[in-house]
Amino acid sequence: MNTFAKLASVAATLLILNCTALAQDATPDPIIEIGKTKFEQICIACHQYERSGTMLAPPAFAIQTHYKDAYGSDETAFRQAIVNWAKAPDASKTLMPGAIARFKIMPPLPLPDEDLDAIAAYLYSAAFTEACNMQQGQRSSMRQSQVKP
Ligand code: HEC
Repeated sequence: MNTFAKLASVAATLLILNCTALAQDATPDPIIEIGKTKFEQICIACHQYERSGTMLAPPAFAIQTHYKDAYGSDETAFRQAIVNWAKAPDASKTLMPGAIARFKIMPPLPLPDEDLDAIAAYLYSAAFTEACNMQQGQRSSMRQSQVKP
């Protein structure tokens, strides 16, 4: 294996470990716990965990997937982008233009930075079922199944 192939395989393994290990982690980082609580108090009103027929906004796993596609393993940049977005959604900075077209732009939620950062930390590390399924190879088949004539 060349170096790139090795790195790619390590990265893929880490993603899968993230999904299995975090789901079972009995003592997660306190900031993630705070973020989960706040997400479930505030954001979940519009952002459900999984897809449904009554969505008002993209599900949490879809936000995580788009922001990880953009920021990779740069957790700091991922969290900052979410904090900035929630305080002042700006269509010119969207990573999800299709969501704006479908749902209209999100209203600003000017919560304290530390609350938004905790929520962002949770969104970064949460092992959402659909996101994990996609990481494990169902992503391309899902994309194909969405393209219907
Ligand atoms: C009143 C409903 C509502 C609430 C509450 C809400 N959102 Fe949103 N959010 C939306 C909608 C609608 C979209 C899709 C359109 C868009 O991207 O602006 C969205 C999109 C997003 C996006 C993707 C932005 C992009 O376009 O790149 C992020 C990130 C996000 N929300 C974070 C949050 C966080 C964090 C919270 C809780 C603090 C939250 N949202 C609460 C309605 C909401």
